[in-house]
Amino acid sequence: MKIAVGAVLFAVGFGFAIARGAVPSSTTADGAESRDLHEHMMGFLDQLKTIAQHLQAGKTEECLEAATRMQELALSAKHLDPANLEEVPEEQRADHRRSFRIAMVQLLSELSLLEIELLEGKRDEAWARVSGSLFQLRESSHERFQSAD
Ligand code: HEM
Repeated sequence: MKIAVGAVLFAVGFGFAIARGAVPSSTTADGAESRDLHEHMMGFLDQLKTIAQHLQAGKTEECLEAATRMQELALSAKHLDPANLEEVPEEQRADHRRSFRIAMVQLLSELSLLEIELLEGKRDEAWARVSGSLFQLRESSHERFQSAD
């Protein structure tokens, strides 16, 4: 299996890079939903770091547990509002909410495929997903749904 150490470190690194970014955590009237989304995101990041650290070492059980936890977070996060909802014209908000939910379900679907790859011992494929399509989904979602502030 050719999972480069550099690639694993890259994965952990990109997580920290986002964590360091100044992202506002309050967009709703009382800020509650947005804080909640922030907590979900920090959960995604923690679990993704666990996967990046354990995949190469063949610690599949730890990766499976982390992937499952991420699925649970995605199931819950799809019901939340995107952080930039109030920056969108009122007549477009229902569509924006729907798009956010679709992106979260796409994440759920990536995580389900990741789980299958882990269960089948396909670590190369699992890594290709984490550093490829899952990473891209995260990047594009952040562009679309993070607040501009
Ligand atoms: C594995 C995938 C993902 C990871 C590891 C991740 C991680 C993070 C992190 C670390 C933050 C920054 C929190 C902060 O510093 O304030 C963040 C913010 C955010 N992410 Fe994600 N994310 C992922 C996927 C997604 C997806 C799929 C969506 C949308 C469907 C999304 C929407 C957002 C939004 C709206 C924010 C801003 C939330 C706030 O106000 O704090 N993320 N994410």
